[in-house]
Amino acid sequence: MALQFEDNFQRKFYYLRLSLTDVCNFKCTYCLPDGYQAGKERPCFLSLPEIRRVVQAFALCGTTKVRLTGGEPSLRRDFTEIIRQVAATPGIEKVAMTTNGFRMEKSVAQWQQAGLTNINVSLDSLDPRMFHQITGENKFDQVMRGIERALEVGFTQVKVNAVLLKGQNDHQLPAFLEWIKHRPVQLRFIELMQTGAMDHYFDRYHSSGQVLCRALQEQGWQRKVRASNDGPAKVFWHPDYQGEIGLIMPYEDGFCETCNRLRVSATGKLHLCLFGESGVDLRDLLQQDNQQAALMARIQSGLGQKASGHFLHQGDTGATPHLASIGG
Ligand code: 5AD
Ligand code: SF4
Repeated sequence: MALQFEDNFQRKFYYLRLSLTDVCNFKCTYCLPDGYQAGKERPCFLSLPEIRRVVQAFALCGTTKVRLTGGEPSLRRDFTEIIRQVAATPGIEKVAMTTNGFRMEKSVAQWQQAGLTNINVSLDSLDPRMFHQITGENKFDQVMRGIERALEVGFTQVKVNAVLLKGQNDHQLPAFLEWIKHRPVQLRFIELMQTGAMDHYFDRYHSSGQVLCRALQEQGWQRKVRASNDGPAKVFWHPDYQGEIGLIMPYEDGFCETCNRLRVSATGKLHLCLFGESGVDLRDLLQQDNQQAALMARIQSGLGQKASGHFLHQGDTGATPHLASIGG
């Protein structure tokens, strides 16, 4: 391969998270508690040709995996077409999405046919009432049917994300474990991250993943070895369970050392980290097919600015108001 995006800390980037829209139809308390607020001007999100150009540039520089995020990516009417186009890009081997699951039951078969290879679904509780309380939507059953449907149509594993929330789901480990006993689900507990729009929410609900980590080990769960292009989750397996558990602990030392991902927002800004800077605008270089070289050069020079880690420990949440604005 001729080119490879790399930063000043010898981290290589194989993985692009591409946000397709900021809009979401859920109101998760840790993300968009008041729901998506449209500003005065409706933002214009990347078009299909712009998406094609940005993905091609990344693929030419070593990216093999693209995750489609949001907001809720499946709110885009051209979502299936986007999957098809990303999947058809030479060099892209995996096309993943992160979704709240509301449209999965209906459309997951179609997405798979278009080339989707991996799905992450958010599911913060197995209790329908708690699910409603956390997401603002009474759609627990619909999301659960979506997960079952994904397994039926042949996804060999579905990843399910639960944000750990003190008093809301951090005592529900037994129910979660029961659920994955006979299901090929990787259930990932994500430690709550503090974002700019959060006030007392973080202090009230943050719950450390350490406690879960110990509980799992006491119950015979074992750490899996990490592959070079895996995400930051610590994955555990257990001989009695078909499913796996992942722990994502962004406040742990070393969390950023294995960072292998870059983000592009729904309006075409390159974000080097989930937290921090305001983004390098790429959009002017996405208007024509003949600007590939300039685009690749701008991304690479942006990478020279990528810091070694985030500053969350110092309480610095950067410029990110909530994760719907940058795709998690
Ligand atoms: N902290 C941790 N996880 C978050 N997510 C959204 N906001 C936060 C936050 N503040 C998660 C969602 C979803 C993924 C896109 O990011 O639950 O699974
Ligand atoms: Fe929507 Fe995801 Fe944010 Fe929930 S976490 S409000 S599903 S973007």
